[in-house]
Amino acid sequence: MRTHVITYGCQMNEYDTLTIQSELVAGGHDLVDAPQDAELILLNTCAVRGKPVEKVVSVLGDLRKERLAGRDLTIGLMGCLAQLDEGRELATKFGVDLLVGPGAITEVLPAIEDLERAREAGRRGRVDRLAFADDLVHHLTPPPPPGTLTGYLTIMRGCDHHCTYCIVPQTRGPEVSRPLRAIVREAEAMRAQGVDEVVLLGQNVNSYGRDDPALPSFAELLLAVAAIGFPRVKFTTSHPMNFTSDVIDAIASSPNVCDYVHLPVQSGSDRVLRRMAREYRRARYVEIVEELRAKIPDVVLTTDLIVGFPGETEADFEATLSLYDQVRFDAAYMFAYSARPGTPAHQHFDDLPRALKNERLGRLVERQKHWSLEGNRRFEGREVRVLVKDIARDGDHVVGHSDQHHTVLVPKAQVRRMGLHRVRVDHATPHALYGQVVGAETTSVPLVLAS
Ligand code: SAH
Ligand code: SF4
Ligand code: F3S
Repeated sequence: MRTHVITYGCQMNEYDTLTIQSELVAGGHDLVDAPQDAELILLNTCAVRGKPVEKVVSVLGDLRKERLAGRDLTIGLMGCLAQLDEGRELATKFGVDLLVGPGAITEVLPAIEDLERAREAGRRGRVDRLAFADDLVHHLTPPPPPGTLTGYLTIMRGCDHHCTYCIVPQTRGPEVSRPLRAIVREAEAMRAQGVDEVVLLGQNVNSYGRDDPALPSFAELLLAVAAIGFPRVKFTTSHPMNFTSDVIDAIASSPNVCDYVHLPVQSGSDRVLRRMAREYRRARYVEIVEELRAKIPDVVLTTDLIVGFPGETEADFEATLSLYDQVRFDAAYMFAYSARPGTPAHQHFDDLPRALKNERLGRLVERQKHWSLEGNRRFEGREVRVLVKDIARDGDHVVGHSDQHHTVLVPKAQVRRMGLHRVRVDHATPHALYGQVVGAETTSVPLVLAS
């Protein structure tokens, strides 16, 4: 069948889409770039906040209209939303044909075959695959298409935390680490194909290996992947709970592990952190930041913040502002709390008025802009290494990311190919660095393939 996959949500979903696509190709399906050319459309969905769910609802509505207008189309709902009651209800409402959870992505072909058999037998109805497949963590995902510069690599699935606002533990199940051998083989295949930057993925990457004593720690895994020879190794997401000194030491000692850490704090108020069931308090978070900055002076630190968690008072919110001033994050992903059906916070606490959440979000964004500009100005006059990947929206620049994960723009005329460049930064804004190319760089770290 001609198939098109649409991906929403986080990088783990992008990685899962590669698995889904490779399964489809192995099963003789053709992948098509344009949804209008497809006979089968798979939506790999996200349920972390209301907005990504609304997007899927609107696409399902459009597809239903097209079907009513006579288009012969099979629709699959996959990913995090598919695993929830909310997803099942939407699937029924919009006449979805396949419902496949994020732990069952390797089951997509058998599900399609079941659907075809049922249709041949004249049966209508949907095929569901919602059990978590045992073999998923062993499954080898082929490298991304040639020419891809950044490769995502999931090292563990699921989440063992129970943050009261979060739906992810319900969609992705408990933490399971992938075998070291599978991770290293995938990384080597990526590198052999020319991927310059690998990003190790998990909901809490520093918990890697804790579920199986035979596995190395996250710090050891990081060093093993760094030794494969990528010019750059990044990882996300870190959780303050298990962000141990050996991880900081591994970053400090490996030139190709980037001096960039994304460490979500969520709130600066201990009272809110307790109600969120985050297992650390503000003082511990600040201690980690101090150790990071002592050992990696140039480290760039980003975070996630939720404003308007139920019961957040003005004093709690001001504690978040004061944490921002204390830590001076280089950037932050800031979210207004979005009540997710089935989460403890939704069941037990009352949501704050939307206007109040938005007002606080606005104030936080202003604070973030101030500190992002200060942080980015540290790099003015300095040279950074940039992985140039795209033409910028203005058409005059190309855009990429520095080793420290800044967005960096350089004049298009100065670049002849995508890939790594050395750039002198001459101007910083809160959101980006602007500079001049001082040299292109072929892979600086030798490519070593294990036997
Ligand atoms: N595992 C990671 C991130 C998971 S989801 C961690 O623990 O940090 C990414 C971000 O979405 C979270 O860090 C949080 O800031 C935000 N988020 C999750 N649930 C949310 C909700 N119900 N409302 C608003 N933001 C939410
Ligand atoms: Fe969600 Fe918390 Fe797990 Fe992150 S650690 S995925 S926020 S439950
Ligand atoms: Fe969304 Fe699932 Fe990722 S809920 S953020 S796609 S883990």
